[in-house]
Amino acid sequence: MRTHYCGELNSQHIGQTVTLCGWAHRRRDHGGVIFIDLRDRTGISQIVIDPDTAAAFALAETVRNEFVLKITCKVRPRPEGTINPNIPTGEVEMLASEIEVLNPSLTPPFMLDDDNLSETVRLEHRYLDLRRPAMQKNMMLRYRVAKTLRDYLDTAGFIEVETPMLTRSTPEGARDYLVPSRVHHGMFFALPQSPQLFKQLLMVAGFDKYFQITKCFRDEDLRADRQPEFTQVDIETSFLTENQIMDIVEEMIRRMFKQVQDIDLPNPFPRMPFSEAMNKYGSDKPDMRVTLEITELSDVMKDVDFKVFSGAANMAGGRVAGLRIPGGAALTRGEIDAYTEFVKIYGAKGLAYIKINDITQLNETGLQSPIVKNIHVNALQAVIERTGAQNGDLVFFGADKAKVVNEALGALRAKVGHEKGHVDGRTWAPLWVVDFPMFEHDEEADRWVALHHPFTAPKDGHEDFLATDPGACLSKAYDMVLNGWEVGGGSVRIHRQEVQSKVFDALKISAEEAQEKFGFLLDALQYGAPPHGGLAFGLDRLVTLMAGAESIRDVIAFPKTQRAQCLMTKAPNEVDEKQLRELHIRVRQQNVAG
Ligand code: AMO
Ligand code: AMP
Repeated sequence: MRTHYCGELNSQHIGQTVTLCGWAHRRRDHGGVIFIDLRDRTGISQIVIDPDTAAAFALAETVRNEFVLKITCKVRPRPEGTINPNIPTGEVEMLASEIEVLNPSLTPPFMLDDDNLSETVRLEHRYLDLRRPAMQKNMMLRYRVAKTLRDYLDTAGFIEVETPMLTRSTPEGARDYLVPSRVHHGMFFALPQSPQLFKQLLMVAGFDKYFQITKCFRDEDLRADRQPEFTQVDIETSFLTENQIMDIVEEMIRRMFKQVQDIDLPNPFPRMPFSEAMNKYGSDKPDMRVTLEITELSDVMKDVDFKVFSGAANMAGGRVAGLRIPGGAALTRGEIDAYTEFVKIYGAKGLAYIKINDITQLNETGLQSPIVKNIHVNALQAVIERTGAQNGDLVFFGADKAKVVNEALGALRAKVGHEKGHVDGRTWAPLWVVDFPMFEHDEEADRWVALHHPFTAPKDGHEDFLATDPGACLSKAYDMVLNGWEVGGGSVRIHRQEVQSKVFDALKISAEEAQEKFGFLLDALQYGAPPHGGLAFGLDRLVTLMAGAESIRDVIAFPKTQRAQCLMTKAPNEVDEKQLRELHIRVRQQNVAG
C-alpha cells in the first residue's frame, strides 16, 4: 500500500513518486491550493493539492482533521522561503496526484498539538492522545529500552522464564489485587506484587541466570512514580556475590543509556551506605545533583531552652538537624512560609530557621531568627561550624522523630536545591545505596518489619543480630538510584532454611504462619538451594527519566489515574449478578450517609 513513511522523505527523494498512508494532522486552504500535513508514527509530510488535479482537489476539500488518507504524490523541493528547518521533512513537499479517504473521523475532542490538555481528557481518549508525536516518541523509547535490556541479558546468558499471574500473595508490603476462584468456593488468587518467590524457586531449579520483563500489581497509594500495574525488569542469578550482581546490572544500565540515548553514565556508579544517605540527605534515594547537605545537631541541642529542639534531641529515636542554604538569607517571608507548609506534608510541625547576617556575633544581632534567644552560644557556634554557614546564608532546622526530620528535610533539600539552583550541573547522577538495615521498626504495631523483603540475606557477620539486636542487623540489599528516583532494588537472598527461620523469628512470624504462607519456599530451600540473589528495575521509572517526562503515566500506553481507574475503559466496573454468583461473591451494600 505505502511506499514510504511520512517522516522519512527529504531532498534525496526529490523527483520520486511515493505513496503515503497516515492521518490528516491539519488541512489549510491557501488561495486555491490545499495543504495537508499528513502524519504517521515517523513524522509529518506536507502534501500540496493543486486545483489542476481536480478529483484529488475535490476530495481534499472534504478532508478534516484525523481523517485516514492514502496519498500518491511526487516529492519536490519546497519553494524558496517556505523551507522549515524544524522538521526532518522540511526541505520538501509532496504534490498529490491521487487521494483516497480510507476512513473519515469525527472531530477529535481536542487538538493533538495542544500542549495544555487536561490529563483526564487525554486518558479518556487515550488512543488519540497516543497519536501525539510526544507520546509516540515515549512509547518508542520504551520499546527501545526494553529491547536493549533484553538483548544485553540474552548476550550475558540470561534466559527469560514466565511466572504465573494467578498466584498466592507475596509479602512485598503493598496490598494485593485479588482474583476470586470460581472452582474453589471462597478462595482467591493474588496477582503478583513481583515474581520474587518464583524467581528464587527458578534458582533452586538450576536456571542459574533468569530474567523477565513482567507486570507487577500493587494496590498502594499512587504517586507520580507509582502505578497499580507496572513493569519490572526482573533478574535473578546463582553463585554470584552482591558486588558481582551489581556490576552486571550497572553495566547493563550504562550500555542501555549509551545505546538508546548516547548518554555516558559514570563508571563505576558511586556507592553509599544507607546510614550516610539518611544522615546527609534525609533519603534512601538522594538526588546527588543537589549540592545541599543535612547536618547532625542532636548532640548540641540537648540542653537548649528551645523546647522543640531539646525535646527532640532527648527523645529516643529523635533527631535535630540543620540544612544550610547558601545565600538563603535572601529568602522572603513568603518563600519561607511556603517551605514551612511544604515540610508539613511530611509530618513536620514547623520549620525553624536562622538567617546568618554576621557570624562574628552569635546573638540576635548577628543571627536573625525568633529562636536564637533560646539557644545558647555553644549550640549556635556548633550550627555555624558544622554547617559551614557564611554571612548571607540561612539554616533551616528539623526537630522531631528522625523519620519525620529525614523525610521533611530530605524533601526540602531536593526542592530548594532545584528551585534555587543548588545543583552541580550534571544531567545524570546514578548511585548505589547499600548496607540497608534488615528491618525497620513499625511504631504502630510495635514490631520489626522487613525493609526490603523477608528473603533478603543478612550481611556477613550480622546473622547473630537477628536474635540479639534486629535493629543493628544490616542486609545484603542494594538499590539503584537515579536523579532521586529509586529505579531498581534487590538483594542476595537467604538460601539456607535455618537462616530464613531466624528472620521469620525476628519478624515475629510464627513457624506455622511461615509454613502456611511460604511453605513451598521453605521446603525448596532444603533441597539444595544454591546461593542466589538478584534485583528488579522499574522499567516505567527508567523510561520516565530518560524521556524527561513528569509522570510514569506518560510512558505507559494505557495507565491508571491517581485513583486507580482507567478512564477509557471505565475499569474497574460493576459486573453481572450472575458472574458474582458463580464466584460465590456477594457485594456488601455501602451505607450511604444522608
Ligand atoms: P521493589 O519492591 O524494590 O523490589 O521493586 C523493584 C522496582 O520496581 C519499581 N516499582 C514501581 N514502579 C512503578 N510503580 C510501582 N507501584 C512500583 N513499585 C516498585 C521501582 C523499584 O525499584 N522483588 C523485589 C526485587 C528483588 O529483590 O529482586 C522487588 O519487587 O523502580
Ligand atoms: P514556635 O515555638 O511554635 O513559635 O516555633 C518557633 C519556630 O520553630 C517556628 O519557625 C516554627 O516553624 C519552628 N518549629 C516548630 N516546631 C518545629 C519542629 N518540630 N521542627 C523544626 N522547627 C519547628
